[in-house]
Amino acid sequence: MPRYRYEALEQELKQQIRSGYLKSGDRLPSIRKLCSHYELSKATVLHALHRLEADRWVQAQPKSGYFVRYPEQERPKPIRVDTPKVPAPVSVPAIFQDIMTRSAAFDILPAADQEDASSQLIVLNRLISRQMRHKPEQKSGYYDEPAGKASLRAALSDQFRYRQLMVSADEICITTGCQHSLFIALMSTCQPGDTVAVESPAFYGVLQIMEHLGLNIIEISSDSAHGLDVDELAEKLTHWPIKACVVTPNFGTPAGACLSDDCRKRLLSLATEHDFWLIEDDIYGDLAFSSPSTRPLKSLDNSDEQRVILCGSFSKSLSRDLRLGWILAGPLHNKAVQMKLITQLASPQAVQEGLAQFISEGHYRRHLNQFRLKLREQRDELINLLANNWGDRVLFSQPEGGLCIWVQLPESCDSQKAYRSLREQGILLTPGTLFSAHGLYNNYLRLSFAQPLTADRKKALSVLFDTLFATEA
Ligand SMILES: Cc1ncc(COP(=O)(O)O)c(C=O)c1O
Repeated sequence: MPRYRYEALEQELKQQIRSGYLKSGDRLPSIRKLCSHYELSKATVLHALHRLEADRWVQAQPKSGYFVRYPEQERPKPIRVDTPKVPAPVSVPAIFQDIMTRSAAFDILPAADQEDASSQLIVLNRLISRQMRHKPEQKSGYYDEPAGKASLRAALSDQFRYRQLMVSADEICITTGCQHSLFIALMSTCQPGDTVAVESPAFYGVLQIMEHLGLNIIEISSDSAHGLDVDELAEKLTHWPIKACVVTPNFGTPAGACLSDDCRKRLLSLATEHDFWLIEDDIYGDLAFSSPSTRPLKSLDNSDEQRVILCGSFSKSLSRDLRLGWILAGPLHNKAVQMKLITQLASPQAVQEGLAQFISEGHYRRHLNQFRLKLREQRDELINLLANNWGDRVLFSQPEGGLCIWVQLPESCDSQKAYRSLREQGILLTPGTLFSAHGLYNNYLRLSFAQPLTADRKKALSVLFDTLFATEA
């Protein structure tokens, strides 16, 4: 028998959670309702709730109340695959074009209803529209300066300070997105036939650029818990000279890991020792679930040589439709600006001005605070669903940021085959083979938690796993 009234309430709520009456993610009745229903004082109810929170049964959400927590998963085994030992030319699988023309690789149900735009996005639209109406004759008659609007570069420079990267606006060049920045980085550092080390699994956009530029790839294993294997890179460097290494230290897609500080430091010293460039893809850097957010690798690059070329964009943290990104190329800055000029001439002025104002007035930070909370909840919900339904057959990552989960299926599952049959049903799977230049990962897939897990998406996930398991040889 509980001795105190708060204990009685605590036990009652635990029982409701254990029995499934209150499910993961459910909101608990309000404090007022709990007081009147159980005839308790506010202090007693709050005491019980604080104890439940400390024991991780519930979670408080500012201004929303208390929610039942998702069960803690065991720390997953890192997902990792051995990579080929020798560099080779890149050949992107044909399925790539097919997926990109459907342009919805982050939603398994592209035809599903989308959520309404957030209030911050509406503000952004208003600011951009206002900039479009301001001096339209000037904008239609003149290109923007090659490096991009000074106001946006200054806003970005301030924004980077939150992540301990101190750079001036003059060191930044605006691009049409991270893909463009990566293209400029590889164009500025490599010649056809050069070898580039790339984390494996890799972002398929990098593989596509490398194929086009005639570069050779040496894949370096990157596991879902620790990221790029710096020991493997060091070992491969003793056999093969490389010109650059493309790495996503913060929540790379699809493996989702965050590289430790020690590995970052080792990576920097390897770059100096073996004379190669580090091309940092930081597109998910603003999407860390814990605060303060993680630093870019570039913020540790304090040597005179400046080996890190930082690439990023607003595509994942704000909107893909802005088509605005950046490159910080250090000593190669002028070359990068020249490449930008050749490939894009200039960036749209009103969009840059509107975005600069959005950042400098604090809307971007407010947007990130809400967005990261939402993503964390959506990640928990997806992980919960995977664990409860398919946990005995699949391994999956548990990223602390970013947008996706990397799923390992039984060895004989064929994700490309499932992709084709699911496509006919309007379900879009992102097969693992997209993430390697050597056809690795066919029994893997990337799942995104960028969209809320609606009933339709849950149903689609069931069909998706049934189809995948049916491909088992
Ligand atoms: C890791 C990574 N880098 C770069 C990009 C390309 O981004 P952007 O839309 O800014 O060109 C993506 C898009 O999916 C990505 O996942």
